[in-house]
Amino acid sequence: MLPQTLLLALAAATLALAGTPVDGGTWVEDHPGFSQQQCAGGSICGNTFFIPTSPNGSTSGSGCSNGHLRAERRYKDDYSSGVRQFGGDFTIKFMSGSRIAIKQTFNGDAGPYFIMAVEQGGRLYSVEGGQTIAEGVAKVGSTVRINTVHDAKSRRFSVYVNGKEMYRDGKAPGGSFYDKIGAYTTSTGTGDLSITWTNVQFWHKA
Ligand SMILES: *[C@@H]1O[C@H](CO)[C@@H](O)[C@H](O)[C@H]1NC(C)=O
Repeated sequence: MLPQTLLLALAAATLALAGTPVDGGTWVEDHPGFSQQQCAGGSICGNTFFIPTSPNGSTSGSGCSNGHLRAERRYKDDYSSGVRQFGGDFTIKFMSGSRIAIKQTFNGDAGPYFIMAVEQGGRLYSVEGGQTIAEGVAKVGSTVRINTVHDAKSRRFSVYVNGKEMYRDGKAPGGSFYDKIGAYTTSTGTGDLSITWTNVQFWHKA
């Protein structure tokens, strides 16, 4: 039998694997389901999202009509009010491509609202507007923690990178939103990319 202290240490280590919410206040965890979209040669295996260098020409499948490379998980966390938080860790396994969306906050009423993409060299940027979120952090093999906080009432949307707020939109639109993660080439983007998302969690503010 393992001594009690070792068991406690193991329990603490397991708890520490899960992320904690940022931004203060009391947060309640949610457990939304999800669906998956694999397009034009994109594929998903567990928590790993892969797109090859170029599309295979197929436009059939959910979300595939534009023929772009896509391997994405669409969470069913749809919301139009309250304060919501997403948290997750990503690691790029390999990447010869560039300008690939890895996290979206989709506005079901108006299309993509916030799309975070990665460039060769590891810059994270906002596709709508091109603003840099963080320079050089998303390097192959490095794990990066992302949190987004969306206050639908005050219309604030923030992105935290490794616990630090790096992007804020104080004039977010209204609408009905949901989260997506994975890999999706932007209109100027190319594959390939293999990325893993772990410790993905959702919360709402109490
Ligand atoms: C292209 O890839 C998709 C998955 O991303 C697959 O469903 C489809 O069958 C593939 N088409 C061809 C022609 O290989």
